[in-house]
Amino acid sequence: MIFLQYKPLGKPVQELKHIISNTIIEANRKMTPGEVEKAIARATGLDRKTVKLAIRDLVSLGELSYTYVYGTSFLEKSFDRPVQLSKRIVIKPPDKAYKPQPGEVSVNIAAGAAFGNGAHPTTCLVLRALDSVLGDCDYLKRRTSLTGLDVGTGTGILAIALARLGVQKIIATDIDPCAVSEATYNVTLNGLADQVTITNALLEELATYFSVIVANLAYPTLRRLSAVLSEKLEQGGVLVLSGFKEPLSKDLGKTYTEQGLRLIQEETDREWVCLVLRKPGQP
Ligand SMILES: C[S@@+](CC[C@H](N)C(=O)[O-])C[C@H]1O[C@@H](n2cnc3c(N)ncnc32)[C@H](O)[C@@H]1O
Repeated sequence: MIFLQYKPLGKPVQELKHIISNTIIEANRKMTPGEVEKAIARATGLDRKTVKLAIRDLVSLGELSYTYVYGTSFLEKSFDRPVQLSKRIVIKPPDKAYKPQPGEVSVNIAAGAAFGNGAHPTTCLVLRALDSVLGDCDYLKRRTSLTGLDVGTGTGILAIALARLGVQKIIATDIDPCAVSEATYNVTLNGLADQVTITNALLEELATYFSVIVANLAYPTLRRLSAVLSEKLEQGGVLVLSGFKEPLSKDLGKTYTEQGLRLIQEETDREWVCLVLRKPGQP
């Protein structure tokens, strides 16, 4: 351990580690070790060597890990072990065994380049929302057969979680061919190829209505898709949105309520927001 080496610089070690971890978790893309060092050195005024030592500590403590994608190495929150992300959902690497406790479900996610290994607050917010609405929502509990749509699936994490939480048929879309390929791999890895379809089809091309829709997308995309997402929801169905921060949440909520949906839940994690909306009526 090299904790003592930070002391002369007057930066509390835990604070520095917290800044490093948060920078990696909150980035909207994977960061290389060099990018992390540079960003932290600029933000804290510490020299890059000190930041590098703190990063090595976090790696040796198992909190961060290096991942290698197409010849480039990245620094990420370590998912090299099972990690519980909500009351019932545990994410794990495929080569690690985990025996779910009663009521728990596990989701295998292989290391890759697509967004959605469970580290980002928006993914966690949506997983927690799904955990609660699929357990508590009377309408969804009464339905004998649930259908799900995951728009912008990335690794497929939310689509797989939907299946594990009892949704029978799921379509998951992404415009990024790399995400489509990784999500397809993860779905197969979880033995869900018959239940979850991964596609690059446009929403307008889908001729179905859904009981649950999840969309963890950037604010402008969510705004643009408000009419089609609301239209694709069954009467009584639930829409879970994330991917935007607090200042934009009110406007987005208004955009969707103007489409006839009702806001039933709102959660925040480190300024990121998750809105849960419901379409009135019965199917
Ligand atoms: C923030 S990631 C979410 C990944 C995963 N669902 C999660 O919650 O961790 C957003 C994903 O949406 C995809 N995407 C962006 N715009 C899209 C669109 N208009 N339709 C479908 N996918 C889109 C991106 O390629 C990316 O994989």
